[in-house]
Amino acid sequence: MNELKNDRYLRALLKQPVDKTPVWMMRQAGRYLPEYKATRAQAGDFMSLCKNAELACEVTLQPLRRFPLDAAILFSDILTIPDAMGLGLYFETGEGPKFERPITCKADVDKIGIPDPEGELQYVMNAVRTIRRELKGEVPLIGFSGSPWTLATYMVEGGSSKAFTKIKKMAFAEPKTLHLLLDKVADSVISYLNAQVAAGAQSLMIFDTWGGVLSPRDYREFSLQYMAKIVDGLTRENDGRKVPVTLFTKNGGMWLEDIAATGCDAIGLDWTIDIANAKARVGDKVALQGNMDPSMLYAPPQRIREEVAHILSGFGEGTGHVFNLGHGIHLDVDPEHAGVFIDAVHELSQPYHK
Ligand code: CP3
Repeated sequence: MNELKNDRYLRALLKQPVDKTPVWMMRQAGRYLPEYKATRAQAGDFMSLCKNAELACEVTLQPLRRFPLDAAILFSDILTIPDAMGLGLYFETGEGPKFERPITCKADVDKIGIPDPEGELQYVMNAVRTIRRELKGEVPLIGFSGSPWTLATYMVEGGSSKAFTKIKKMAFAEPKTLHLLLDKVADSVISYLNAQVAAGAQSLMIFDTWGGVLSPRDYREFSLQYMAKIVDGLTRENDGRKVPVTLFTKNGGMWLEDIAATGCDAIGLDWTIDIANAKARVGDKVALQGNMDPSMLYAPPQRIREEVAHILSGFGEGTGHVFNLGHGIHLDVDPEHAGVFIDAVHELSQPYHK
């Protein structure tokens, strides 16, 4: 069994006692850090950075050198799976991700296969292995993927979207085609995440960034059902330790009971729900991760500390809380404010863990 020097993050996810509330930040490696921009320039572009294990490891570790974070997250992207399926991922500056060959019909779905995690996606597993080696047991490593629904939105829309008309047209006019696609993506996610665990990931997170654009019934049919299938198919123990699974549906605060029923270990919350309310509803079943508005990092340090205190008191005493932002850190945030946030969580949470 691999010993961890700081296992506070894994313990909180499994609701075991901790000395203080663990904290990490979604998108903690990224453009708000000048050293990230320098390494990305060295790699050439974002995907080349993801595909270079040494440089992906370097940017994963950068935020940990600055801040006393309780977890590292693999530097990669959720769109590696559709890229490996042959859709041709590219990034246009200022416009976000795009696909050369989006999915438009059943024939397109029939053509795609389940990528081999140690084949087309081996660069991700190499990054996981390199990061685990270089972390030297300091903190756990989080592996991740997108949810089938969220991945499908990019695959069908051909990139980012505001109204999601193409994928909703497929959902409501050709539901069988979309289910076929979601099922293939779910199988791909299972094999991808299990390979990340085999390569050294110690916890898993599924990002369902766009589940919240669906009605409650459609959320269960097109998003949650496939996340539940994934939770069922995952390796939940490795190397003598449990591998906790966190599901994050942005804007999913209405559906916490349904999400908890998948059998996941933790639910990621955005800032539109009061954490006290979330705990009262599902706190006996799952741990909670979140949930400060990432824009709060624009506030002066005193206001950031006040917000951290408010969220900590909302969760109250005991374990089962991993502090985080409710979504990714913004690229124009002052890194010093991120430091204020992290220190505030560690300092102000101690009275809740007596
Ligand atoms: O959290 C981390 O530090 C780990 C790395 C990570 C990235 N993307 C790096 C990245 C993770 C976990 C993701 C997940 C991801 N990617 C999601 C789900 C989480 C969320 O934010 O909702 C989504 C929807 C994507 C798809 C994606 N990748 C988009 C929309 C973009 C463009 C964003 C932009 O503002 O340009 C990316 C690119 C991307 N992924 C960047 C980073 C650091 C920026 C690329 C760059 O350096 O230019």
